[in-house]
Amino acid sequence: MAVIVGGVGTTHVPSIGKAIAEKKQNDAYWKPFFKGFDYVHYWLTRTKPDVAVVFYNDHGLNFFLDKMPTFAVGAAAEYRSEDEGWGIPVSRPIPGDAALSWHLINALVADEFDVTTCQEMLIDHAVTVPMALMWPAAASSTKPWPVKIVPIQINTVQHPLPGLARCLKLGRSIGRAIESYEPELRVVVVGTGGLSHQLDGTRAGFINKEFDKLCLDRIVTEPEALTRYSIHDWVEQSGSQGVEFLNWMAMRGALTGRVSELSRNYHIPISNTAAATVVYENGTEVRSKAA
Ligand code: DHB
Ligand code: FE
Repeated sequence: MAVIVGGVGTTHVPSIGKAIAEKKQNDAYWKPFFKGFDYVHYWLTRTKPDVAVVFYNDHGLNFFLDKMPTFAVGAAAEYRSEDEGWGIPVSRPIPGDAALSWHLINALVADEFDVTTCQEMLIDHAVTVPMALMWPAAASSTKPWPVKIVPIQINTVQHPLPGLARCLKLGRSIGRAIESYEPELRVVVVGTGGLSHQLDGTRAGFINKEFDKLCLDRIVTEPEALTRYSIHDWVEQSGSQGVEFLNWMAMRGALTGRVSELSRNYHIPISNTAAATVVYENGTEVRSKAA
């Protein structure tokens, strides 16, 4: 059966892709952020996932305001990216696990999540930047990627957005579905975006360190506590793009075991964003010993 090895949360700011292309990881501005990935790399070499299920939000590359699904699941054998205009090189294609995608889609629909299924889907910086951060060697080589992906898109762009409780439930449905998948796959769940940031309007540049800390503390052991915030509250506390935290809630929901934080890096700012990088253990070893 498939196992969930753990979760990774990471910001997805496009300028990170530019810093990678220009090899600026050790520059004074970038070093405190990239250092946060040392542990992620160590953990990924230890846990060796075969598949990454990536919760993210599209920013207008694949979906636009005219047609915006609340939840969309990729079911392709390969995902391409395209130039979004950020001045970063276009990422190489990433292989998909279409069989796992369909298993997850079936489970989601059975759980009354009526998702959009995408057998073709362009992935934007919210997938490609985290993939390059997690597997930098693969992103910059021509050798095969060590993982396949299942991208799951959550609308954090055009209101009405799904609430925090709904995204937590979506994640839980995905977590149960992964664990009911027969092939022996090791799966990492990833949530991208956030934390607090606002790119436009009179509050452009808004960051809320106290609220980010509260989120990072609560999401580990009591994610339900965060569901008392409405989307309106979230925009107020975290900025109009801080709602990308919905992707983190889904990632957290997909963790089925005893969850603990293995690493946390919080750095202000990367571009206009409070950048957070975390690794969560899923506690499956503990559970399987007890079973
Ligand atoms: C920035 C942050 C984002 O989440 C994004 O999608 C694009 C840009 C930024 O801070 O520049
Ligand atoms: Fe974003």
